[in-house]
Amino acid sequence: MEVIQTKKELREFRNGVRGSLGFVPTMGALHEGHAALIRQSARENERTVVSIFVNPMQFGPREDLAKYPRPFERDLDICRETGANVVYAPEHADIYPAGFGSAVEVSGVGNHWCGASRPGHFVGVATVVLKLLNRVQPDRLYLGQKDAQQAALLDKMVLDLDLETEVVVCPTIRGAGGLALSSRNQYLSPGEKAAAPALYRALMECGRQIKMGQTSPQKIAEIFQGLLPGYDGWRLDYFGVADPVTMSPVPVIDRKVRLLAAAFLGTTRLIDNISAGPGLEPG
Ligand code: PAF
Repeated sequence: MEVIQTKKELREFRNGVRGSLGFVPTMGALHEGHAALIRQSARENERTVVSIFVNPMQFGPREDLAKYPRPFERDLDICRETGANVVYAPEHADIYPAGFGSAVEVSGVGNHWCGASRPGHFVGVATVVLKLLNRVQPDRLYLGQKDAQQAALLDKMVLDLDLETEVVVCPTIRGAGGLALSSRNQYLSPGEKAAAPALYRALMECGRQIKMGQTSPQKIAEIFQGLLPGYDGWRLDYFGVADPVTMSPVPVIDRKVRLLAAAFLGTTRLIDNISAGPGLEPG
């Protein structure tokens, strides 16, 4: 496995790839969720590039950019073990040189949920991912379903801007009690870790209510809110019932939807989502 820092070296690598190239963009602090994406890419492509870049443009002024975990050597071990061929770890100035002044705005998909509670976040995500895609030129882009709104937004960007890459969205990997794996889970205290699966349990209970015939998003939101504050330390950021493609709120649940939630447990913000629909098993 090769570690590359400059776009010149990356271009040289790209020019030498004959078969298909898979790409897994990350901000490092890799866990089993990232490992699953890399393994899938390695299975489906001749070569796999993983990028590690903590992207300042997608963090708000009061967010955790400075303390975001950066266990680089451990990340390299995971990339090596899971079948990556190249880790692309650019410096800040390589991605955002002095005078950089462009931004990618994908309209619609990013308006609600994380887009509303983290202003500017998705512009930062779309901008860096477009730059990375331009550099890596992958045949396939691998994203996790855990960040469902991010995946829907990047899928729309790829479509709108005629990018020659297939977006592959892979299932959320869950730990004990169903907690969705996230780099931010390591901020949780042992007590918070024990409480954290409540987010997933509340989503699943809402999914079951929808399966059994509840069609009102308001009623489902009330059920969700009734479940979460039962656990100490929770502060709800948002709960939503959305169309899985446009990510807009739905007025009535008469087809497959995505239930999305974000909540603070202490100072850690957790997000999760599941699929649900009338007569459908949630998950
Ligand atoms: O999901 C992430 O880790 C980031 O948002 C991404 C896609 C690597 C862009 O910085």
